[in-house]
Amino acid sequence: MNINSVNIVEDTFLEKGYSCWLQYNKITDSKLIEEYLPYCLSLSFTEDSPIVRSAVEELADGVKSMLDKEPTIYNYFSNDASIILGTYESINLSDYELSSDLFEKLNDESYVLKSVNKEGNNKILLVGKSDKGILYGAYHLLRLIQTRKSVNSLDLVESPRNQIRIINQWDNMDGSVERGYSGNSIFYDNNQFTNDLYRIKDYARLLASVGINAISINNVNVWEIETNLITSKFLPEVQKVADIFRSYGIQTLLSINYASPIEIGNLTTADPLDEGVQQWWAEKVKEIYSYIPDFGGFVVKADSEHRPGPFSYDRDHAEGANVLAKALQPYNGIVVWRCFVYNCLQDWRDRTTDRARAAYDNFKPLDGKFLDNVILQVKNGPMDFQVKEPVSPLFGAMEKTNQMMEFQVAQEYTGQQKDLCYLVPQWKEYFDFDTHAKGEGSTVKTIVDGSMYNYRYSGVAAVSNIGNDINWTGNTLAQANFYGYGRLIWDPELGAEEIAEEWVQSTFGNDPLVVETIKGMLLDSWNIYENYTAPLGVGWMINPSHHYGPNVDGYEYDVWGTYHFSDRDGVGVDRTVETGTGYTNQYFSPNAEIYNSLENCPDEFLLFYHHVPYTHQLKSGETVIQYIYNTHFKGVEQVKDLIDRWNKLDGKIDDYRFNNVAERLQLQLKNAVEWRDKINTYYFRKSGISDDQNRTIY
Ligand code: GCU
Repeated sequence: MNINSVNIVEDTFLEKGYSCWLQYNKITDSKLIEEYLPYCLSLSFTEDSPIVRSAVEELADGVKSMLDKEPTIYNYFSNDASIILGTYESINLSDYELSSDLFEKLNDESYVLKSVNKEGNNKILLVGKSDKGILYGAYHLLRLIQTRKSVNSLDLVESPRNQIRIINQWDNMDGSVERGYSGNSIFYDNNQFTNDLYRIKDYARLLASVGINAISINNVNVWEIETNLITSKFLPEVQKVADIFRSYGIQTLLSINYASPIEIGNLTTADPLDEGVQQWWAEKVKEIYSYIPDFGGFVVKADSEHRPGPFSYDRDHAEGANVLAKALQPYNGIVVWRCFVYNCLQDWRDRTTDRARAAYDNFKPLDGKFLDNVILQVKNGPMDFQVKEPVSPLFGAMEKTNQMMEFQVAQEYTGQQKDLCYLVPQWKEYFDFDTHAKGEGSTVKTIVDGSMYNYRYSGVAAVSNIGNDINWTGNTLAQANFYGYGRLIWDPELGAEEIAEEWVQSTFGNDPLVVETIKGMLLDSWNIYENYTAPLGVGWMINPSHHYGPNVDGYEYDVWGTYHFSDRDGVGVDRTVETGTGYTNQYFSPNAEIYNSLENCPDEFLLFYHHVPYTHQLKSGETVIQYIYNTHFKGVEQVKDLIDRWNKLDGKIDDYRFNNVAERLQLQLKNAVEWRDKINTYYFRKSGISDDQNRTIY
């Protein structure tokens, strides 16, 4: 653990929860010490910057803690040092059989890690394209040691695949976190900024260690007090936070209230085409940059769920975003404009309107109308972070508009960090989905990394899952989602299993039983959660408002009717072109035809696209009703099995983390039983069809 944090956590068991995957446990195996130690005796850095200092501090702390040896540090080039850090311009590359041509081709955040064994002298060379590359390389080297990989013949070239890798805090200044399941905000309390900057620094370390390079520090729903974050009242505080993040290569952004010109500017309108409004934003942005010279820009939720936006002035979203973009342009700032825009008061009985259609219907016609420093942030699915929903059809549909993906690391609809749900396999499915936008192979990952349409800005965002709980994420195992998010968006080709293994080793050590057990639990967990909750892609069925636990007919906003259209004969939403909402047509061919056809639609999304009788046969031969019963009974048994698996680790990991997870698994079991009973009973009563195994349904 970073020395500064000792103030916060003194109990060594709690410290284990707090340190997450940056444990740096002491290595006891003498063979490993023999291998690593010669490479870690001293450290030389060839140029100075706050980011390089962060890298050096982390390496020195990590080495000291793992190898019990404080490395000598030279703040100049020393060929005697065993780790040499520098940018490609500050190191004599030819001495190490490297050439600057290699770096010319790499992006600014890239690095090379190379072992050099000359004349019995072991060295590791860490060369960054810039200081950010050095920092990422330092974390890579530490990870290799934590996961007990050999460092004898390193020859690695690493570049992040996605340009913007941002985390969105949904923190409010009163200290609450919207959809937060891990305590209160680490940023704010009682409408003030926190004094605990050490914790923010430790958050920066965690973020940088998995390659996150940007953060928006307040909720997308910007209420009254947060509207003032862009005023002189709070900008000095934002500046302090931004200074910390900057030294870990992380840019700070703020969510803004679209009605700011009225609320804090004394104007009578926020109309984006009004000259006074344009002037106001230009001056406001200038003021922000006087505090934070590398300010990232604005995140905006407009015209959605009662938030203000350009619709009030009869302007479209491009007009709405461009006024901000123009103001930010001189400073290289960006506007992250969210596409989660829909009519939340929609009447579900009217089968021609469909919430799933909303993002595409609102934004597709605006392709090419946004300034090039606007980037559209599109949720992974067309609805709202459900356990299973198809990819948003907006990906690939806007050739001339920068886009980025929005995931949710916080498990709002997937068990709220009580239930175990490792989301990396889900995110991988979204990345690997073939949109066919430009023919076969047009995967989502090649759209969001900007390569398919040569976007100027591109990348991935996610809603954070951390709070001020001592272990950051409430459930210790939910740390894996935070870790996995960063690692996957750095390199979408990494496997969900590979990421899980790295995380377990760095977090819990290298005992094979611990590694295999926790990894297995993580990898099974998404499917288990789906089994006992909403079936076959239908979504929701969760308690309105707080979104935990079953409520089959529950839906937000007092809208009318059940959105899943269950009746005595069948279930599912008809989104076909012929008889339904026509949503399937928003996809490119052949996805549009596949989803539209009852015969070809994959079963996993059957009820998302089609309304079918309970007796409809799935590809497995099972009927829909029997599938619902089977998966719900099975889900509960699988949770019991998770508990058994975890119990085998008693005594193998510290009490704090063991008990923390054990308690949550009990909550998960309770939840799973309730889901099973409510869903099965509901469908038994609706359909009148018995379970073919005569298990108890109330
Ligand atoms: C969900 C979530 C809200 C959030 C919204 C958003 O609907 O429940 O709390 O504000 O998403 O993404 O803006």
